[in-house]
Amino acid sequence: MTDLEGIDLARVLHPNTNFAALHRDGPLVLVRGEGVHVWDNRGRQYIEAMAGLWCTTLGYGDEELARVAYEQIKQLSFSHLFTGKSHEPAVLLADKLVQMAPFAASRVFFGNSGSDANDTQIKLVWYYNNAIGRPAKKKIIARHKAYHGTTLASAGLTGLPAFHKLFDVPLPGILHTDAPYFYRGAEAGEREEDYASRLAASLEKLILREGPDTVAAFIAEPLMGVGGVLLPPRTYFEKVQAVLTKYDVLLIDDEVITGFGRTGELWGAQAFGMHPNTLTAAKALSSAYLPISAVLVPEFMYAPMVEASGQVGLFGHGFTYSGHPVSAAVALRALQIYEERNLYAHVRNIAPQFQARLHALASHPLVGDTRGIGLLGGCELVQNKTTKAAFDAKRAVGAKCMQLCQERGLVVRAIGDVIALCPPFIVTPDQIDQIFTLLAQGLDDTFAWARKEQLV
Ligand SMILES: Cc1ncc(COP(=O)(O)O)c(C=O)c1O
Repeated sequence: MTDLEGIDLARVLHPNTNFAALHRDGPLVLVRGEGVHVWDNRGRQYIEAMAGLWCTTLGYGDEELARVAYEQIKQLSFSHLFTGKSHEPAVLLADKLVQMAPFAASRVFFGNSGSDANDTQIKLVWYYNNAIGRPAKKKIIARHKAYHGTTLASAGLTGLPAFHKLFDVPLPGILHTDAPYFYRGAEAGEREEDYASRLAASLEKLILREGPDTVAAFIAEPLMGVGGVLLPPRTYFEKVQAVLTKYDVLLIDDEVITGFGRTGELWGAQAFGMHPNTLTAAKALSSAYLPISAVLVPEFMYAPMVEASGQVGLFGHGFTYSGHPVSAAVALRALQIYEERNLYAHVRNIAPQFQARLHALASHPLVGDTRGIGLLGGCELVQNKTTKAAFDAKRAVGAKCMQLCQERGLVVRAIGDVIALCPPFIVTPDQIDQIFTLLAQGLDDTFAWARKEQLV
């Protein structure tokens, strides 16, 4: 048998990985997936409760998507969108996305990942403000705990220290305001609405300190996924948007996790009363069968760029694989499948069961908070439920819980000490029960371990 683990450890430079832990524990090598299940190279089966990286919404091995990819490869395996060239899959997908947009979008720019799409967002905002004669209005405000990717600019938008340290990011002109983290950020007795007012006031203070004429855009995920499954407090976006409107600051909506039904609404923006100017989509856009991302742009931004690109001689931005025909064909089919198989309704129908089982974990001695919406959830492990005292991060309690769940055949993700769940949309009620039964057992295993280690 090939020693895949050994070769992996010798040859692969893993993204977003603690190398020391990888060399200690070894990789988990997956070889097959079907529906909501994956199998490793030792024949062990897992229920995939994270949809990969919040992305394989249609589960694994969908025949129709496989066929569409095969047929598109036979028909036109590559073409591009540079210098006026075009092709059917990109045209039809752009048209579909504009029709689905939660705001008056008119154009779609295609990329390959959420990260490069968010870089594109920054470049479009800069290009647009230069084109309309506002060269000083360039700063972008993101939030602490945000995750917007890891390319040179998007890593700066990301508000998590591990993505900045030793990399010399953020780039100048990228700022951060407060994370909407009610469980830890709210003052004793503070209501969600008051917490939201306080965050909006803090954002306004930052804009005034920097000078409104220098602030171009605010970027936000409707809810924070990688930051620890953080839902905005009630009235948050309403109050934040009033500030943005006051100072003529654009709102970029990062729907990379929330887009296409994850929250029970088509867009996260609709779930949380957000009214964006532009939007980033990826992941569920193709159910992660092939890499593709999209930036949805309003006409008021596109129109001035037409004249500007004429003056420059070119809109000098794009990727070889922008709108790749095979990715675009698969994405278009994925969006049709969500509708044909009634998956938006399915998510809405089973979300109450998912959320009820999630919130029932709150009584577990390790769980300080549970939070979620739709088919997305997180539970935060704490050392002391009353004081909310966190575990020493060095003890990696969340990572231990993830490993113990894995040993029981459940794939979840540990974000620090938050255990995240984000199953494929095709999950059945029985499978939801199975996920939470295994997770409860994994939590018990973690508690037993923590006692032995004298952590609780
Ligand atoms: C909200 C959000 N934006 C952007 C990204 C980056 O996407 P990618 O990993 O495709 O570059 C992610 C990835 O998880 C994300 O969750």
